[in-house]
Amino acid sequence: MNNTTNPYEKIPVKVFNNSRCASVWIAGEIGQIIKQKQAQQLPCVLGLATGSTPIQVYKELIRLHKEEGLSFQNVITFNLDEYFPIPKESLHSYYHFMHENLFNHVDIKKENIHIPDGTLIKEQIEDFCQYYENLILEKGGLDFQLLGIGSTGHIGFNEPGSSINSKTRLITLDRKTRADASSSFYGIENVPKYAITMGIGTILQAKKIIIAAFTEGKQKIASTVIEGAISSQYPATFLQNHKNTLFVLERASAQGLTRFQAPWLLEAQGLKGELQIKYDLSTAKKGVIWLSQKVGKPILRLQQEDYEDNGLLELITQIGQGNCGIVNLTVFRELSQIITGWPAGGRPDKLPESYFTQKKAISKQKIIIFSPHPDDDVICMGGTMKKLTNQGHEVHVVYMVSGNLAVFDFDALRFADVLKETQKMIGGNGEEFYEKVKKQIKEKKLGEVDGPDLAYIKTVIRRTEARSAALCTGVEEQNIHFLDLPFYETGKSTKKPLGDEDKKIVKDIILKIQPDQIYAAGDLTDPHGTHRVCLESILAVLPQVKEQLPNLNTLLYRGAWQEWELDKVTMAVPLSPDELYEKRIAIFKHQSQKDRPMFPGSDSREFWQRSESRNKETAKLFTNLGFVNYEALECFVSLDVLLLLGEL
Ligand code: F6R
Repeated sequence: MNNTTNPYEKIPVKVFNNSRCASVWIAGEIGQIIKQKQAQQLPCVLGLATGSTPIQVYKELIRLHKEEGLSFQNVITFNLDEYFPIPKESLHSYYHFMHENLFNHVDIKKENIHIPDGTLIKEQIEDFCQYYENLILEKGGLDFQLLGIGSTGHIGFNEPGSSINSKTRLITLDRKTRADASSSFYGIENVPKYAITMGIGTILQAKKIIIAAFTEGKQKIASTVIEGAISSQYPATFLQNHKNTLFVLERASAQGLTRFQAPWLLEAQGLKGELQIKYDLSTAKKGVIWLSQKVGKPILRLQQEDYEDNGLLELITQIGQGNCGIVNLTVFRELSQIITGWPAGGRPDKLPESYFTQKKAISKQKIIIFSPHPDDDVICMGGTMKKLTNQGHEVHVVYMVSGNLAVFDFDALRFADVLKETQKMIGGNGEEFYEKVKKQIKEKKLGEVDGPDLAYIKTVIRRTEARSAALCTGVEEQNIHFLDLPFYETGKSTKKPLGDEDKKIVKDIILKIQPDQIYAAGDLTDPHGTHRVCLESILAVLPQVKEQLPNLNTLLYRGAWQEWELDKVTMAVPLSPDELYEKRIAIFKHQSQKDRPMFPGSDSREFWQRSESRNKETAKLFTNLGFVNYEALECFVSLDVLLLLGEL
């Protein structure tokens, strides 16, 4: 449905299945504009963006150039922004980004490339900005502008408060924007405080604009900008005034839109013909949870008029044969069945007296918990891990990547020091190793790869922390595995693509353990996208082991970066206050990530705080729906459910 029939969406929206399809489509549009201009023998003026969003667009443009002869000879580019101050050769400069990701691979003329200059002295900036504005006009104005969007709602670096008429200028970056960038700069203190950016007024003069937002992390800001009121608090909302803007989303980033969050509201707007919702148990669950939260009543107290007033009458007709009580009960029962203290099954009829002390599984299961980084397991499902080991199951934890990138140099040096001091007593060459680590730290520039000894001690630090945390949850030492998947081991925040060797390692461990149940991370908004690649490796391998493991049950967990939507949850495991505390202690074993992790994202809380508050929040949601007042709940979604919903 496009926005001419959707009163909630104030900017036309196109939703693709995934960011790859979306990027290929955007590149195709850009290619068309370039060709049209070529046919008219005119230059084509493109406004370009940087960041994670356009990378695949540029990849496709390069492919179009190399494989389909798309020429950039008539293309003139103006980049949106550049950090200030920043040398051109810095790995973090947008100058470097654009050359690395596009310009070096196509036949664009060097003199046609324009990027705000981060090397100026402050006194020169005003003149430069005026020159940049004039130059865009002189070249005929922007035929096309590509945009990403920041979590503050910025386009270019127009942070909240920017005016609709603003022009190219120096801007102070929002703390949130700097926090978002901190992962690639190895700490917020290294992120420049300023940037030179085209203004909103400059952007709005473009003849055509495509703004793209990918990944779940962009859900909230995308729906605010598309459906919210125009406000300088969210500068991208000014695009609602532009005549030719398209917002490109993929399934995950689009989920915040009303058409996905509460499609029945569109139906209620008289758009029935276009959007006849076919309710099943899953959509009924979504509708009832939404309604209960909207009207602030527990499920079993929802009344006919609540459904009627909120566009959900059709739900009662289709699921409850016209009776809202039936709908209430159906959904309530469905939800109560997902709560279990026996995550691998085998719930005893009555609690044996020795239940809490004796390790005796009713039917012993083999379980693999895949943890992308060495701490995701305990952060996201530390309580469930403890229950699983307590209930006598054979629990294996498989740490997928070394996570060595996230250890601070000062910690590495301290551990090398411990080694040096220890080896004074037990013998060995601790002194030499310590000196090497010290030298590698001293000689390393920001963003450069760690030397081999430094990288090694960092791997060891995370490995020993992981072991200590897993032991804390009752996992046996021989069941703790480290894969150190090669795709991660670039020493940089940009990783290699997932390779066959990674998949083989994952497949081998599954076949070796022969699990009945697998837990994997579905927490896909971590700063460098490692979780997504790890899950990709598991998804690639599962069909290959299906024959050997026909009854394998795979569940996904979250908690470090986000939480599951309640309507999708297939299993919720309650934790008592004591169990929650024990989980916290296990998370504390990850000392290198404590207080202030290297890659915190834009959430200033520590990992144990995020996970505890998410688990408690889930319990509160259940309480508000009319369930028992649990202390905390860890949630899981079955892989089959996500595949069925087309969400992976
Ligand atoms: C980059 C730019 C920014 C980014 C935005 C989103 O030139 O102007 O507005 O588009 O910060 O960045 P990503 O795509 O990395 O999430």
